Amino acid sequence: MKFAYQNATQILFGQGQIEAIAKVIPTDNRVLVVYGGGSIKNNGVYDQVVNALANHQWQEFSGVEPNPTKETLDKAVEIVKADHIDFILAVGGGSVIDGCKYIAAAAHYDGDGWDILTGSHQVSSATPIGAILTLPATGSESNSGAVITKASTQDKLAFLSPFVQPAFAVMDPDVMKSLPDRQLVNGLVDAWVHVCEQYLTYNHGHMVQDGYAEVLLRNLKQLAEQFDQRDSDEWRANLMWTANQALNGLIGSGVPHDWATHMIGHELTALWHVDHARSLAIVQPSLLRNQIEHKRAKLEKLGTEVFRLEIGSDLAERTIDAIEALYNSLDVATQLTEYATDKQTAIDNVIEQLNKHGMVALGENQAITIEQSRKILESAIA
Ligand code: NZQ
Ligand code: ZN
Repeated sequence: MKFAYQNATQILFGQGQIEAIAKVIPTDNRVLVVYGGGSIKNNGVYDQVVNALANHQWQEFSGVEPNPTKETLDKAVEIVKADHIDFILAVGGGSVIDGCKYIAAAAHYDGDGWDILTGSHQVSSATPIGAILTLPATGSESNSGAVITKASTQDKLAFLSPFVQPAFAVMDPDVMKSLPDRQLVNGLVDAWVHVCEQYLTYNHGHMVQDGYAEVLLRNLKQLAEQFDQRDSDEWRANLMWTANQALNGLIGSGVPHDWATHMIGHELTALWHVDHARSLAIVQPSLLRNQIEHKRAKLEKLGTEVFRLEIGSDLAERTIDAIEALYNSLDVATQLTEYATDKQTAIDNVIEQLNKHGMVALGENQAITIEQSRKILESAIA
């Protein structure tokens, strides 16, 4: 166990915290407020931001789409450069926050911002950003990752940089009141898979990371079971904080990671616009069954510690069934049906993209080769 851990994001958690941005963004900063399709205009969040920024000089950029595209974000990059923006305030879910991370880094680069995603440009500085989270799911509000899509080529790629870690994250659970059930469910599933990607590998005996991961999984399972209580302050606050902790770097410190479900899932989103979380639920059960021998010990631990299943030789198999049943209980499908072509063409399309993106040895053992990905897709695609 060897790692460096730092999470520099100041968390401003709780009801009424949006007004705190007045104090944490320096008043002499020129601010660009960035948001998505306008949900913040209908739920009072925009008005709270306007009130809080009364003593700031600010302007806005809207229209960042779910699964944000570089094509849209590049327009904001031009604004940051031309108007000498000092601070970017992201108001939205993972898409808006990720989009702001791209804007912040690309604004400090003279070339094409997409170079950041391909790795041909290493980020060495960025415009400071802060986040007002409106959808708990990705953890983007206090991590250094971002996932950006190039619509013209259907590429969805990620980058990581400490320079785009938000300075602060406002997490007021009241903003969740306007979330449709579909997005609440997406948040539960995405956070669940984030913990799995950092936990469901092999036994390493790191008690803090494993134990905390199990707490987060138990929380998410309970929140899913208590979905009918989703209109309570307690339910909302617990989901918001759990989803944040699932991907703020802590449980992933010094342990093996998987992320294959995400890498394959991103291709489904890029090709067919499947919601991010739903792409994960489609891939993960098939992937776990394919990788069961590598993951048996941790699947068994998850089965006993989270699902309280009885010990037995088929415990790992029953654990995967329990995960699948959890998704199905939330009406989340575990097979892809939304593709335009026949099944073999759909599989070929995903495989072609995985090859193009170098995703040819995924998972904690690099055991998910293209051949294994094809097998996983055979059962993940209906
Ligand atoms: O566009 P707006 O108006 O904001 O509406 C959004 C959008 O339509 C809506 N919404 C958000 N907050 C709302 C609301 N509607 C009503 N009331 C509110 N309070 O919800 C829709 C989906 O929003 P989006 O931001 O796309 O969802 P999510 O937070 O799930 O983010 C998904 C993106 O994050 C990436 C995904 O790949 C995907 O592009 N991820 C980022 C990660 C990271 N940075 O660490 C890790 C994740 O694994 C993930 O890959
Ligand atoms: Zn995710």
